[in-house]
Order: sequence, then structure tokens, then C-alpha cells
Amino acid sequence: MPPLDFSVITIFPELFTPFSEVGVFGRGIKNGLLSLKTINPRDFATDNYHSVDDEPFGGGSGMVFTPFPLYKAIQKSKKSTAGPVIFLTPAGTPLTHSKVLSLSRLSGMTILCGRYEGVDQRIVDLFVDEEISIGDYVLSGGEPAAMVIMDAIARQHAGVVKEADSVENDSFFDGLLDHPHYTRPAEFNRRKVPEVLLSGDHQRIAQWRMKMKLVETLTKRPDLLLTASLSPEQKKVLIEIREELRKGVMDEERE
Ligand code: 6GU
Repeated sequence: MPPLDFSVITIFPELFTPFSEVGVFGRGIKNGLLSLKTINPRDFATDNYHSVDDEPFGGGSGMVFTPFPLYKAIQKSKKSTAGPVIFLTPAGTPLTHSKVLSLSRLSGMTILCGRYEGVDQRIVDLFVDEEISIGDYVLSGGEPAAMVIMDAIARQHAGVVKEADSVENDSFFDGLLDHPHYTRPAEFNRRKVPEVLLSGDHQRIAQWRMKMKLVETLTKRPDLLLTASLSPEQKKVLIEIREELRKGVMDEERE
């Protein structure tokens, strides 16, 4: 399995050092399943101050990433890293699980982190294949978004998460939220773990988890039920849940 190569264009490469050393992502790198390198546009600045930004034509506040250093950084990235150039911007297409899945099957990608008020539009027009946003709010720069996207992609890349199971049980894998989890102790602050989980009856446990996934999704993200493809069994249970919620018995069930 060839590694998935991430090349990140950023003026803050140091932000990515801890990210590439710890957790699931760090292990993926150590095991040769992922690679991450950074390219700093500042290294291609031509003036004495190593400037990468300039005032916007037409006036106004803020600074704009100047095209030449970004152009050089993108060229350098494309020499070593296959795949699309992805520009992270709040104006991009919102990231979804299915987008994460399709990106996880690539052999690599260049991720361009914006800063300041924006990036010279000619860079976007000439060299960017896709624009992605991680939600409807504004970050000061694309760097946190780059980590979000790479982490989500890495989880889906074969072998990075040890037990394939724990990816398949993730929220969104089947379009639903995950069920609640419990560990020892069996009682905490007078709160008991649901009895079924201590029963050792794997069929009942699977049934409870399936139901709780539907309860979680119905109560927290009912919009997801419009697009999730439910099995006949799940549809039946969902009808029962709605009925129970109507009768107000759900709270007792959770005790
Ligand atoms: Cl990808 N970048 C920035 N700067 N802000 C964002 C974003 C990305 N996604 C949401 N807000």
C-alpha cells in the first residue's frame, strides 16, 4: 500500500510538527502509511523582508497573499506530490464524510492554507483544483482546517486506524451518529451503565446500540435521517422510537 502524501503550503510550518508526531496521524507517519511535508511560501519571497503579502488593489483593509511566492510553492509541491491542489477557504464547498472518503483514496494532495484577507485570485484561477471549507465560520488561517481535513482523511486511509471496526462504527460511516459509550466503573456519581451492556448478550447489545444510534440521530441531527439509507429493521425501530418519544418513555430507558 503506497503512502498517502500530504503537502501543505503554509507560512506557519511549525504548527504541523506536533500534529505529525502524535496520535493516529503520528502513528500513520511512523508506520509509513502517510507522509506530511510543508512548503513555506516565504522561502520564495524575493524582497529583503521576505514579504508574502501586499495591500489589496482597490483599497480596503487587510492584506492579500501575493502571487509569486505561492506560485513557486505550488510548483515545488507538484513536483513531489501527486493529486489535486486544494485551497482551504470559508468560501469553499463544505467538507462532508463522502468527500473525506473520496480524498482518502488518492495517493496525495497539496493543501494550500490561506491567511490574511485572502489570496490573489489569479492563484486560485490558475492552480487550484478544489476549494474546501470546514464550516460556516471564519478562521484566521487555513492551518487548523488543514489539520481537520488531514486527520479525517487519514482515519479513512487503509491501515491507519488499527481496528477497521472502529472506523466502521464512527459517526457518519453509515450516515448516522454513533451510540453512547460506557466503560468502568459500572456506577459513577450514582449513574449506572445501561444494564444491557453488562449482560454479555451480544445480540441484545447490538440491538441496543443500533437503537441508540437512531435515538442519537433523531434527537440531535434529525436532518441526517433524510439522507441515511436505513435497513428495514432500522426503519421499524425508528418508528418504535418515535412512538416511544411521543409517549415520553425514553428518559426511563436511559436510566
Ligand atoms: Cl478551510 N479556512 C478558513 N480560513 N476559514 C474557514 C475554513 C477554512 N473553513 C471554515 N472557515
